[in-house]
Amino acid sequence: MPEASDVQRGLEDVVALESRICFIDGRQGRLIYQGYDIRDLAARSTFEEVAYLLWYGRLPSAQQLADLKSRLSELRALPDPLARQIDALPADATPMDILRTAVSALALLEPEETKPGASSIGGAQRLTAVLPTILGHFHRRRAGKPALRPRPELSAAAYLVYALLDREPTELEAKVVDVCLILHADHELNASTFAARVTASTLSDLYSAVTSAIGTLKGPLHGGANERVMELLAEIQSVDRVEEVVKGKLARHERIMGFGHRVYKVEDPRATILREWSRRMGEEEGNLHYYELLRKVEEVVHREKGLYPNVDLYSGSVYSLLGIPPDLFTPIFAASRVAGWTAHVLEEYQDLRLIRPTAKYVGAIDLTYVPVGQRS
Ligand code: ACO
Repeated sequence: MPEASDVQRGLEDVVALESRICFIDGRQGRLIYQGYDIRDLAARSTFEEVAYLLWYGRLPSAQQLADLKSRLSELRALPDPLARQIDALPADATPMDILRTAVSALALLEPEETKPGASSIGGAQRLTAVLPTILGHFHRRRAGKPALRPRPELSAAAYLVYALLDREPTELEAKVVDVCLILHADHELNASTFAARVTASTLSDLYSAVTSAIGTLKGPLHGGANERVMELLAEIQSVDRVEEVVKGKLARHERIMGFGHRVYKVEDPRATILREWSRRMGEEEGNLHYYELLRKVEEVVHREKGLYPNVDLYSGSVYSLLGIPPDLFTPIFAASRVAGWTAHVLEEYQDLRLIRPTAKYVGAIDLTYVPVGQRS
């Protein structure tokens, strides 16, 4: 029986499995996908290349990349029954709930893709291609707009902007969104990826694993933090109010979203990259309001609590400058992380062992059962 001292609350520092997909050096502030530093990937690659890297363990050749891009374009369309189902769901639902429900429903329409095993790569590509279309369909429907026209020539990043905003991004916007997709694509055994791997480890199917992951990502301590950061900025309003608002929250033991991380003990390298893009976007738009507020929030939180920013701190500012509404921030995270979730599920199928930790029992033992009629 495990001792109380054996309990690792939140599974902190527990090494649960071996993986080749992603390495986080929390002390040096480094993030590596399949051997490649995130800073190189963010500067020089594209989301499609990164998805290939995560799934196949190597960068694609030019032909392999072209094939993957055309495959992802072909897989973007929604089946009519799913489109009708989304239309029948409440228009005021949150997009994360729509995404979770839609992936679950899609499993019923595409049973072949959901079978566990190496063939799940087809399902991985399908889900990565279709998530932006699900989001775009729902977002347009709640605005009373007709469904999207397919645009197979657009890159994954440009298609995401088109699906959500019904316009093509500028070159800078497409690059920023691509960087966001690259930075969010994987992060080792984060909570949602762990949820996906636990589901897959029971030999359940890929779509079920991704459904579990979406439900896990939506929590504000995980992917939901980016939306809350923008709520904080709305509350703060101006740089001269940062001290007062942030210190007040800390005094009330409230968490400041976008700060702190289970693994990073220094700055999250994704935050470093996104801070720069937030500044560039702000300069391009002639609007450095969010950037300046966030810089001041960083200063106060670090001084008061010694905490560093995580990936969620700056992503919302970039999406807001693009004109994307806050309830789509976490779904965009999902549209990227799906590449990582599915890579981990494929890895899990190749080296499968049921994930089933144990608990230190702290309840009673040997109570005497009293029939219901005799209980006081
Ligand atoms: N604001 C204020 N205090 C914080 C924060 C924060 N953002 N993060 C941690 N702390 C404090 C806790 O209150 C706690 O203080 P205490 O010991 O005085 O009680 C201490 O730091 C340790 O906190 P834990 O929750 O035990 O640390 P954990 O490793 O579990 O936290 C987490 C990681 C959940 C990300 C946390 O830092 C947090 O809640 N951050 C805000 C939410 C957020 O930004 N989430 C996104 C993370 S990145 C991602 O998922 C994509």
